[in-house]
Amino acid sequence: MIKFGKPLSMCLCLLAVWACVPKAAKEGDKETENRVEALLAKMTLQEKIGQMNQMNYSGNVEEIAGLIKEGKIGSLLNLTDPELVNKLHEIALKESRLKIPVLISRDVIHGYKTIFPIPLGQAATFNPEIVEQGARIAAVEASSDGIRWTFAPMVDLSRDPRWGRIAESFGEDPLMNAVMGEAMIRGFQGEKLSDPSAIAACAKHFVGYGAAEAGKDYNSTFIPERLLRNVYFPPFEAAAKAKCATFMVSFNDNDGVPSTGNSFILKDILRDEWKYDGMVVTDWASATEMIAHGFCKDRKQAAAIAVNAGVNMEMVSGAFIESLEALVDEKKVSITTIDDAVRNILRLKFRLGLFENPYVATPQAVKYTEVHLEKAKETAEQSAILLKNADNVLPLSEKVRTIAVVGPMADAPHDQLGTWCFDGEKNQTQTPLNALRKLYGDKIRVIYEPGLMYSRDNNKAAFHKAIAAARQADVVVAFVGEESILSGEAHSLADLSLRGAQSDLITALAQTGKPLVTVVMAGRPLTIGKEVDESAAVLYMFHPGTMGGPAIADLLFGKAVPSGKTPVTFPKMVGQVPVYYAHNRTGRAPTGEETLIDNIPLEAGQTSLGCTSFHMDAGFGPLFPFGYGLSYTAFAYSNLKLSAAKLNTRDTLTVRFELANTGKYTGVEIVQLYVRDHVGSVTRPVKELKGFQRVSLEPGEHKTLIFTLPIENLAFWNRDMKKVVEPGDFTLWVGTNSEEGLSADFEVIE
Ligand code: NOJ
Repeated sequence: MIKFGKPLSMCLCLLAVWACVPKAAKEGDKETENRVEALLAKMTLQEKIGQMNQMNYSGNVEEIAGLIKEGKIGSLLNLTDPELVNKLHEIALKESRLKIPVLISRDVIHGYKTIFPIPLGQAATFNPEIVEQGARIAAVEASSDGIRWTFAPMVDLSRDPRWGRIAESFGEDPLMNAVMGEAMIRGFQGEKLSDPSAIAACAKHFVGYGAAEAGKDYNSTFIPERLLRNVYFPPFEAAAKAKCATFMVSFNDNDGVPSTGNSFILKDILRDEWKYDGMVVTDWASATEMIAHGFCKDRKQAAAIAVNAGVNMEMVSGAFIESLEALVDEKKVSITTIDDAVRNILRLKFRLGLFENPYVATPQAVKYTEVHLEKAKETAEQSAILLKNADNVLPLSEKVRTIAVVGPMADAPHDQLGTWCFDGEKNQTQTPLNALRKLYGDKIRVIYEPGLMYSRDNNKAAFHKAIAAARQADVVVAFVGEESILSGEAHSLADLSLRGAQSDLITALAQTGKPLVTVVMAGRPLTIGKEVDESAAVLYMFHPGTMGGPAIADLLFGKAVPSGKTPVTFPKMVGQVPVYYAHNRTGRAPTGEETLIDNIPLEAGQTSLGCTSFHMDAGFGPLFPFGYGLSYTAFAYSNLKLSAAKLNTRDTLTVRFELANTGKYTGVEIVQLYVRDHVGSVTRPVKELKGFQRVSLEPGEHKTLIFTLPIENLAFWNRDMKKVVEPGDFTLWVGTNSEEGLSADFEVIE
């Protein structure tokens, strides 16, 4: 019998461990892996389980310090005091047995102190560079308070504006969520995670959370595997490829299986298919919520199911720390599973450089700097969507001497920040009213009469003052929308119309006969067809953040030109939801004239001829399609040419066309590329976004633009659940939104 000496057996042991490490980690950083293994080898089971425990900062410093000393906390949530962060790090590094630093985390979603537009607004920019820059700024500010892990980006695409968290998403499209998610990850994580200003990102919520039934937060989803793979997975796969340090599971159950206990998504897809080597955390108590789901009988079983499914760290509910030791004893959870989880946690801490230096330098004057505020303003400007501009009422001309500023959102510093900003401060917010007075007050008279105090206000007692102000003015600018608390987590709505008496206020202002410019600030698309009809111009801002005011003021006066496009379809009425551009083709697509409910003759006989898929009371289409947005200038598309009419699956198609600025202002057009696959082994979307670019043109200028489209980007998960490009006929469009554009056909051959 061959006997191994101790060193050789240890080597074999390490080799065996090395074989379990995901390929990406092996290639990435051998030294880190060695450090992880060396530390893991020294850890007791209790210390390992301690790393898997994330606690919310309770304010009880003594208790937290004690637990850190005992090695019972892997991560702390919601601590923002840098002095205290340093004190706790000192305890971990000097007083705990293994000196493992604690990872400090916080929801830094669209800015830390300097608040940027909500993610839905950032998506409206169609500008990943500015999204990346915003996330970098957020990371610089947050890390200055000791935060090294954020729970963003949320790449849950959503096709349901009733869902309050659509505010936090990048809209309805998989490509948009993928591109913007990657950009945020780059911004948060910086060039390397070990930089003290880098914060680990978290792709959340894996997966399907944005498809909650009836748009009610936390609700069930029923997404079949093909739809998961074609639509809901791609932004997460892109995040994994972009080396997003962590993933968070979602609260929802999909087809009966809560994500926290779903090994198909956490192991088969995330680890085996995507080779992800980052760390997976539950959502807030989502492990123990599996009991309420009726999926687990108690906390102990919840811990076993979550860990065995592939979760590494538990956020706040404490079931891991209380049951994992017993579960290992009882052989219900293997030590290999625990070790794998702890490897992922330690790897992240090493990559963040926390073992070298977890401390934060204090004080740091990096919050609300001029550069940060300027970037927040620029982002807000780019996020503005001009939905209507009859008779070019905007930008306001030099002839305007007096404007009436009306509406509950004109001076609502807390509400314009939007949802998910724990750390933004309303006393730093610049509102439209302030900005109009400050930036334009020397040239124009601003009369402010809000009419309503807040968005849900039903009291019309002050309407007469707003109307009187309108009568004295050359132009009325009405600021309406939603308070920030009307969107975000757990803030879903069944009615998407303007709340309170806002709609009546718009009507009353329109009836004065004065040009009415309506500025909407909201967390989601609202059903504002009536208000659009009554207004001369409508500027839509998803909650624009700290610098929303100056951005809006400059947009109104033409110092900035709107360029944003809708990242989500705007329904005419809630009953149309879900309404999204990339829907599958039905056997009865609407064609010809809409016959609406009022045009149906009395006692009309039923027929099955000519029947198509639409709502009799809403018509064929939405209020505004995906990708829609006007400018003060005008753009003309022409001369579309494809590099080939027939291509094989390994080719790249070059799409050339001309864009001209035919208007009077320098402006940015967001040119969009869509493709339809005519026949598939399963039905395919009417069109899918395959690319977009922001193009700036001066008046009279024209440019030849190019999209390159690798044919492999047309692959989809087909009838056999294989990702392939199916040869056949395709049409592509280049245009200004998902409904208009120049088109050309091409064929893909074997
Ligand atoms: C619950 C939310 O769903 C999640 O997005 C967030 O990051 C955690 N709470 C932590 O606050």
